[in-house]
Amino acid sequence: MSFARTKESIEEGDAVVLYLSPQNMHTFEVTQKIINKKGEMVDNVFQTTYGALKVPSLIGKRYGSKVELSKGWAFVLQPTPELWTSTLPHRTQIIYTPDISLIIHLLELAPGSIAVETGTGSGSLSHALIRTIRPHGHLYTFDFHEQRVQLATEEFTKHGLSDYVTVAHRDVCLDGFGEELGHKADSVFLDLPHPWLVVDHAVRALKKSGGKLCSFSPCIEQVQQTCLKLEAAGFVDIRTQECLQRELTVHYKHCPKLELDCLKTEKITADEISKKPEEQEKILTVSHSSSTPGHTGYITIATLPPDFARLIAS
Ligand SMILES: C[S@@+](CC[C@H](N)C(=O)[O-])C[C@H]1O[C@@H](n2cnc3c(N)ncnc32)[C@H](O)[C@@H]1O
Repeated sequence: MSFARTKESIEEGDAVVLYLSPQNMHTFEVTQKIINKKGEMVDNVFQTTYGALKVPSLIGKRYGSKVELSKGWAFVLQPTPELWTSTLPHRTQIIYTPDISLIIHLLELAPGSIAVETGTGSGSLSHALIRTIRPHGHLYTFDFHEQRVQLATEEFTKHGLSDYVTVAHRDVCLDGFGEELGHKADSVFLDLPHPWLVVDHAVRALKKSGGKLCSFSPCIEQVQQTCLKLEAAGFVDIRTQECLQRELTVHYKHCPKLELDCLKTEKITADEISKKPEEQEKILTVSHSSSTPGHTGYITIATLPPDFARLIAS
């Protein structure tokens, strides 16, 4: 239940994040027993690179506490959508936090929004969408893969989010979003191999007062097809962007001190300066990180104008 509200301490059944380092985090459920690979019920012991953790010992501990492992220690954290994205079990390719934040901003989602998403995949984006639109909004998420639908439904229930999300098993290219969603949605998000096949269905799901459609595609050919279809369906302000992170670090650097003024005043040659004992200077500087995360996908955003505006334009 630990996604639904901020909690002081850990209860049995909570999902928790075990934080060893930024690159070494795990999420698991706090239960007394667990089923092992042989199908037997055994004591729940979680193995890490710093040794074992007896999971039931977490019950009653405060979130944020330091906990003992058999060969070290870790922090136990309450999960957030960002931590979930970093640690979730991958059933598909997922969307990561930098793209997610841009998608939520472009879709103009806010508490109370009615959002449609397809495919659900591993539920990475869904958790962030739910946090943005709850408590009065709702997410309708669709996938045509039965097991992914079942696992996502189970996770949302375990995370205490089932009031804010409906997971449906459907091929949206063939069957759309259904009558029940007719002109109810503020936004539609697509992460599918053929997003252009869903654009007409999205028009039927978006409110008559208009709305936003966002599509995430790894390949530029998908973007081209989708943009052509969006324009034909009456969408405007169609823009595609790529979210590339460039990290900067502020730090001090020690450099040889250059005294160029003495060239003028002391009539000293450049050759003589280079032979002087080197004085070091501490300079505050900024560097780009040596590696930059690469391409993930292209994000296309489009606006469906209100019904009456489209009628006037046609
Ligand atoms: C890349 S995954 C989505 C990942 C998700 N955005 C996340 O962040 O975890 C794409 C999903 O779309 C689903 N899918 C593909 N075609 C579909 C269709 N026509 N109807 C419904 N779901 C579809 C796949 O089963 C897959 O789970």
